[in-house]
Amino acid sequence: MKYDFAGGPAGSLTDDTVICFTTEIKNVAGKFLKEIDVAAGGGLTRLVESGEFSGKEGEIASFVSPAEFATGRLLLLGLGSPKKVAADSFRRAMGLVSRYKGLTKAQTAAVHFGEFTDRDYFQAAAEGLLLGSFRLLDYKTGEAAENDNRLTSVTFALPDKKRLRALQGAVERGQIIAEGQLLARRLASTPANDLTPRKYAGKAQQLAKKFGFKCKILDEKAIAAEKMGALLGVAQGSVEPPRFLILEYDGGKAGQKPVALVGKGVTFDSGGISLKPSLNMHEMKQDMAGSAAVLSTVVTAARLGLKLNIVGLIPATENMPSGKATKPGDIHVSRKGKTIEIINTDAEGRLILADALDYANEFDPQAVIDVATLTGATLYILGYAGAPILGNNNKLLERIEAGAEATSERVWTLPIWNDHRDQMKSNIADLVNSGGRAAGTIAAGAFLENFIGDWPWAHIDIAAVDLEPSGKAYVPKGASGFGVRLLTEVLSNWKRL
Ligand code: BES
Ligand code: MN
Ligand code: ZN
Repeated sequence: MKYDFAGGPAGSLTDDTVICFTTEIKNVAGKFLKEIDVAAGGGLTRLVESGEFSGKEGEIASFVSPAEFATGRLLLLGLGSPKKVAADSFRRAMGLVSRYKGLTKAQTAAVHFGEFTDRDYFQAAAEGLLLGSFRLLDYKTGEAAENDNRLTSVTFALPDKKRLRALQGAVERGQIIAEGQLLARRLASTPANDLTPRKYAGKAQQLAKKFGFKCKILDEKAIAAEKMGALLGVAQGSVEPPRFLILEYDGGKAGQKPVALVGKGVTFDSGGISLKPSLNMHEMKQDMAGSAAVLSTVVTAARLGLKLNIVGLIPATENMPSGKATKPGDIHVSRKGKTIEIINTDAEGRLILADALDYANEFDPQAVIDVATLTGATLYILGYAGAPILGNNNKLLERIEAGAEATSERVWTLPIWNDHRDQMKSNIADLVNSGGRAAGTIAAGAFLENFIGDWPWAHIDIAAVDLEPSGKAYVPKGASGFGVRLLTEVLSNWKRL
């Protein structure tokens, strides 16, 4: 996609399709809407009077060959109540229109912001356009493999040249962030046979080379040398060997402590000997979505040139049943030395995160955030609407909450109480990996807490939000890429805690 920027009235834009916005209206008022109405030969007034269009969220009014306008097609998008207009209104409106034939059949389009001159609106609009039209075509053949979206260039426009630089900066930022989120979707959608831990490591190395960060890979021998017994215990059931990915982006001053991101990279979770039911088991190719968010965030941070040192740690493994697999009741020794009684081999994510969190100490991090599809129980807490978070530092949690507010990747903080910690104690080892059904998401957090170092830590459980079940304005059905916008926002505003 080619991006252009222009200042001037919407009528002067020569692109095939021009997009404009309005909040809810009862009649055609204001200079901007009146211009559109005149161009449409009173067509807007008629649509409003008939009740066909009133600027409600999700509405699209389409005018063909508006008189005096240089474009062949004018689309007016509803943003909903003026009191509730926010960046996400633009993300949603653009997400919706991104699949609309009046846009996808055009080769060139322009987005005119009119009176809406907030940077965040520009950025969100650019994000929505890319996020809404995402489709994975790699596995289609023949005609179905062809992208029917003909759009090749988009001009972002304002009434005058005054805020053009702000527009350009915000659109570029939105483009980079949305592309990061698309990368996460693409990785998470990739079937497990095409994204084994080894292939995943190879992809990460390619990305590191392309975008300018370091990527070191520990193979099974190096993982054993690190005594990552919890990770190896998960990996041992599979014929595919595990990998441990270490990403380093040095955008900050030399010697500045890094912020570490840890992502669960289970490339397929069958449950192991505690085998999952076969219904929807195919979705477990996405059990590496947390790590996809981490890898994609590091890519995004590098592309944005953030002035911060960032480390990304990704334990990548399959969780499979076999004659060599971990059996319920087995005890493994984690890298930290704590012993873990494996009650349920399907509680594998916390095991690989335990060793990865402990490994984070090697980088003397100023804070650590882990992202993981950890517990199905998240579905019963916030549903598909947001991700539960927990941790040991209120300031860090508040930053994540603020980032969630700004990006509309929603989170909600849960507590960890001693009752939950007690759940994770074993009779014969230090810990159990499953403390029963009660408070599953918190119990998993209480387990992870045993492996953190002396640093602020937060855990984001994306088990429900990583997969959009039906399709929303800018999140088509499938892998959502949740976490990239949120983490990028948190890192972009980073200050010492
Ligand atoms: N990867 C799953 C969590 C999951 C479930 C993600 C459904 C997305 C959709 C995780 O490894 C798991 O199996 N967790 C168990 C933990 C239990 C055995 C303590 C769970 O949530 O049931
Ligand atoms: Mn599992
Ligand atoms: Zn899992």
